[in-house]
Amino acid sequence: MSFDPSVQLGPLKLPNPVLLASGTAGYGKEISRYLDLSRLGGIMVKGVAPEPWLGNPQPRTVETPGGLINSIGLENPGLKHFLEEDLPFLKEVGIPVIVNVIGHTVEEYARVARGLRDSGVAALELNISCPNIEEGGIHFGHDPRQAAEVTRAVREENGAPLFVKLSPNAPDVLKVAEAVLKAGADGLSAMNTYVAMAVDVWQEKPVLPGITGGLSGPAIKPLVMRWVWELYREFSVPIIAMGGITRFEDAAEYMLAGASAVAVGTASFINPSIAEEILEGLLRWGASRQGGQTSFQSAIGAAHKGVKRKGPLYGGA
Ligand SMILES: Cc1cc2nc3c(=O)[nH]c(=O)nc-3n(C[C@H](O)[C@H](O)[C@H](O)COP(=O)(O)O)c2cc1C
Repeated sequence: MSFDPSVQLGPLKLPNPVLLASGTAGYGKEISRYLDLSRLGGIMVKGVAPEPWLGNPQPRTVETPGGLINSIGLENPGLKHFLEEDLPFLKEVGIPVIVNVIGHTVEEYARVARGLRDSGVAALELNISCPNIEEGGIHFGHDPRQAAEVTRAVREENGAPLFVKLSPNAPDVLKVAEAVLKAGADGLSAMNTYVAMAVDVWQEKPVLPGITGGLSGPAIKPLVMRWVWELYREFSVPIIAMGGITRFEDAAEYMLAGASAVAVGTASFINPSIAEEILEGLLRWGASRQGGQTSFQSAIGAAHKGVKRKGPLYGGA
């Protein structure tokens, strides 16, 4: 029997589970020279705000042995530009488009959601790692109440499948996840980047003008793995996992921990065609799993089988 690569994430059906992570593939055009976008499960585009954002001063990135610290500041050309210049290209390619929605106020998130009604995008991904300027710059994603408020506002404006992208820097990640699911999210994206910093030893000051940035890449994969495991165990909702995927085995690991789809981010900066290679490996793996599988369905969360332990998880030592 042939293998069906499609995956169902609540109301969202994707042709396969390998996506491009938001902010690491722009709006698709540049990376399309290096891989066949139409083969992928989808693209999670760079954050889209109601108006253009300029982003942060340079330098904006620092390489580390295990990853990348970035402080782009969510630079983006705004909703109008996205709808007129970027979306038509992606529609022509035929790849499912998941729009990463950003804002500085609840109303700004709602405006983007409203503007995307009837646009034909496959889903929305709320990036709640944005400072709320009305509440003293505290990130929406760090507070369950604010995270729920922004989720509800977006849900009311747009009926598309809705995923909320969690911040691992929240004091209580599970409380935020619970709040956004109650507020109408169909699933979760896990995770955004981890707060990190680097010091320039010759200038004797922080490398990034904003002092801290967000760490991505292989260094965070085991950290995110723990969250995918816990989120699946607690809520059994569709999860899109991202964090340090560089090989198909990383993607497979996330699926076994509970993810229904995965997104490739920082790895595309090293090899822009890597998502396609990861997809090929994952399809081979899916079809050759024990028992002659015909889809990824039985892989999702399979590592939980027979694992009894409930309650908080702890580190070693
Ligand atoms: C340069 C850069 C820009 C990013 N921009 C966004 C963004 O606009 N919105 C968002 O939700 N996440 C953004 N992210 C986070 C990624 O989508 C992803 O969650 C994170 O990098 C972990 O995956 P990775 O380790 O595979 O890169 C960005 C990451 C990087 C490295």
